[in-house]
Amino acid sequence: MTTTADLSITVNGMKFENPFLLGSGPPGTNGKVIAKSYDLGWGGMVCKTFSTDADKVINTTPRYAKLRGRASEEVIGFQNIELISDRPYADWLDDLRQLKQQYPTKILVASIMEEYRKEAWQRIVREVQETGVDAFEMNLSCPHGLPERKMGMAMGENPDIVEEVVGWVKEVARIPVWAKMTPNVGNPTVPAAAALKGGADGISMINTILSVCGIDLKTLRPMPTVEGHSVPGGYSGQAVRPIALRQVMEVARANPNVPISGMGGIETGFDAAQFFLLGASTVQVCTGAMLRGYEIIGELTTELSKFMVDHKFASLRDFIGKSLPYFTTHHDLVDRQRAAREQKESARAKIAAGRDAETWKGDIARETTDLVTN
Ligand SMILES: Cc1cc2nc3c(=O)[nH]c(=O)nc-3n(C[C@H](O)[C@H](O)[C@H](O)COP(=O)(O)O)c2cc1C
Repeated sequence: MTTTADLSITVNGMKFENPFLLGSGPPGTNGKVIAKSYDLGWGGMVCKTFSTDADKVINTTPRYAKLRGRASEEVIGFQNIELISDRPYADWLDDLRQLKQQYPTKILVASIMEEYRKEAWQRIVREVQETGVDAFEMNLSCPHGLPERKMGMAMGENPDIVEEVVGWVKEVARIPVWAKMTPNVGNPTVPAAAALKGGADGISMINTILSVCGIDLKTLRPMPTVEGHSVPGGYSGQAVRPIALRQVMEVARANPNVPISGMGGIETGFDAAQFFLLGASTVQVCTGAMLRGYEIIGELTTELSKFMVDHKFASLRDFIGKSLPYFTTHHDLVDRQRAAREQKESARAKIAAGRDAETWKGDIARETTDLVTN
């Protein structure tokens, strides 16, 4: 019996040796750490989002806050008010070029963001694809800081802008383009549909959820506190997983066969399996790697492989979307429940009728015996 499964998958023509990518954020902050993640076995990497103008990016300290469990110190939710990369654009171009030379078979996705200007988006796409990266992820979803400059989520929550900006990028991109969507909308299928209409080759989801991680009850100040003040930030980690799963499920159901790169609270291979079951074909991990280290890739692949072997799934495609048909409407749940109850009652009635018949047959037999003996 095999003890490991084939974790490779081809998405948009890109062959991933395993479906685990490090999600855009601190884990992909420069070429050196990205190289380390490849050495450890990650199948792909989405670099920290960058733009052509790093001078406008000024981060604060602190910029993270953690929500811990009541009974343990475990971090269940994580909030950040971090912006995109503040590294010079030219450094990014050098790093990406070198990474593709050193690791030609590893998948490298460039996460990019620009202001609402066609020339800016088309310039970054033209120049970055020259480095040899495999794909783009358009950050249309960062929920804090950047929206003040009409970037990130300010674009992603507006379907008309999503379609238009994705269209600009697709006019010049020669490699696949994934649109990374914000979860801070009522119906995630609307902006996802707009991205696909604009020509996106895949959807990445979810970015962080707008949050206020907590108030310090001594100082009465919101956290993370910068000079006594704060702003709502982006929530990630374990706590967001159910919300991410719901949104992936909705988008997958509305768009069968569209590649989805799922993320939000993935920390184990079993968490990842649930995203595949709901239609994702790759998964990304950001907070999990920040909290537990890049080395978790070993556990992630072992656990996903165990899940597949236990279920006798030979490849990821064998179970991508397999749990989607089990979602229905509330009305249908009520109908199914009623039908199941009726079926049970009728089965019970049949058994009871059978028992009556047995008793009756027994009575006849006894009476017959009595007659004969008398
Ligand atoms: C500190 C931090 C910085 C992040 N920076 C980026 C970013 O630059 N670009 C981006 O698209 N997403 C960014 N994200 C969002 C993650 O890529 C991911 O969408 C989100 O955190 C949910 O996944 P997770 O629970 O595995 O972290 C960041 C997340 C964190 C925690």
